[in-house]
Amino acid sequence: MNNSPDLILYQAFEAVPLGIAVFDLTGKVAFMNSNLAEVMGLDPHQVCGEDIKRLLQGKGIPSGHPLYRILAGEEYKGTAAPLTDGYPSYVSTHIIKGDDGGNAGGLLLLWDARGRQELEQAVLKAERLAIMGQLAAIALHEVRNPLSALQGYLQLLEKELEEVRQLEYVEIMLGALDRVNTLITNYLRLAKPGTPERRPCDMDELVSDLISLYEVELKNRGISFLFSCDSDLPKVSLDRDQFYQVMVNVLKNAAEVTSQNGEIHVGIKYLKEKDMAVFFVRDTGAGVSEDVLPRIFDPFFTTRDKGTGLGLYVCREIVKNHGGGISVANNPDQGCTVTITIPCESRGRSL
Ligand SMILES: Nc1ncnc2c1ncn2[C@@H]1O[C@H](COP(=O)(O)OP(=O)(O)OP(=O)(O)O)[C@@H](O)[C@H]1O
Ligand SMILES: [Mg+2]
Repeated sequence: MNNSPDLILYQAFEAVPLGIAVFDLTGKVAFMNSNLAEVMGLDPHQVCGEDIKRLLQGKGIPSGHPLYRILAGEEYKGTAAPLTDGYPSYVSTHIIKGDDGGNAGGLLLLWDARGRQELEQAVLKAERLAIMGQLAAIALHEVRNPLSALQGYLQLLEKELEEVRQLEYVEIMLGALDRVNTLITNYLRLAKPGTPERRPCDMDELVSDLISLYEVELKNRGISFLFSCDSDLPKVSLDRDQFYQVMVNVLKNAAEVTSQNGEIHVGIKYLKEKDMAVFFVRDTGAGVSEDVLPRIFDPFFTTRDKGTGLGLYVCREIVKNHGGGISVANNPDQGCTVTITIPCESRGRSL
């Protein structure tokens, strides 16, 4: 087998996914690999000794094309108009120096720029989306203030109204406002997740407060509510507002799937040996089907008509930022349980 350096070089030039041509000072082609010959519609074995300029002109490549620049001794690196294959290309031309340091010829490299262009377009798109995201976050933040005012006054009105019909209207409006509020809160959390500002929190108190908001509504719907908390649970170091958001999302999900005579059990356990708090919300809904389960934390994944699919995604981001974990599993009998673990970080500090 002939292992001459020329043969090895020839094979290497044939193997690389580039179009390559080498020519001497007079423009005579010394080598052109099959890739470039193919793009130019030439036979690679018949181009040696041909004039590179004539070949380019013969293929109708316009005189302004950067490929010609090297013939005037000008090196070039950049994108170029398509050759015969119709793809935008990336051209790189180099002067080859002789032993005496003078110009001896030129090297021309050409490759398909589609991948690079796609990447550039993707980066531009990502930048545009990031700016749009920031603008939307600012706008939504501003929308929230008038919303809170509307909500507050509607709640006052609700207390004053006696006519059932009017009360119903107010309830519908309050429900709609509540939804918009959740959407904005989730969106803002998504756009600006932020590092949690952790402080020691009494979880028994936080979860009880939260439950009291939902308890009446759930009782009215014939759903019973259970709350349990291990008595030795220490204060848990977490961002109160962020964690509140997690519990609201999980509780809302449970409330949405649980029907009359169902039950929602919210519990907090303390794993002393690991210094971990385990929160669980168990419902008696329909549970989660096998095809939904792997996608349940994906952003914008929802099976609900009015869902945004951001609830659990936001929960997972917040819990992750707290160094914890969140999972959803079907119960052996009925419904499912969402389990959240958070390191308490109660040891070695006075709480
Ligand atoms: N307790 C549950 N029981 C059954 N399915 C659930 C439960 N919680 C969540 N899911 C499923 O996971 C999907 C995603 O939940 P997620 O909270 O992220 O969004 P969503 O509730 O659909 O919308 P949003 O929370 O934005 O209003 C839901 O659409 C539902 O299919
Ligand atoms: Mg939800």
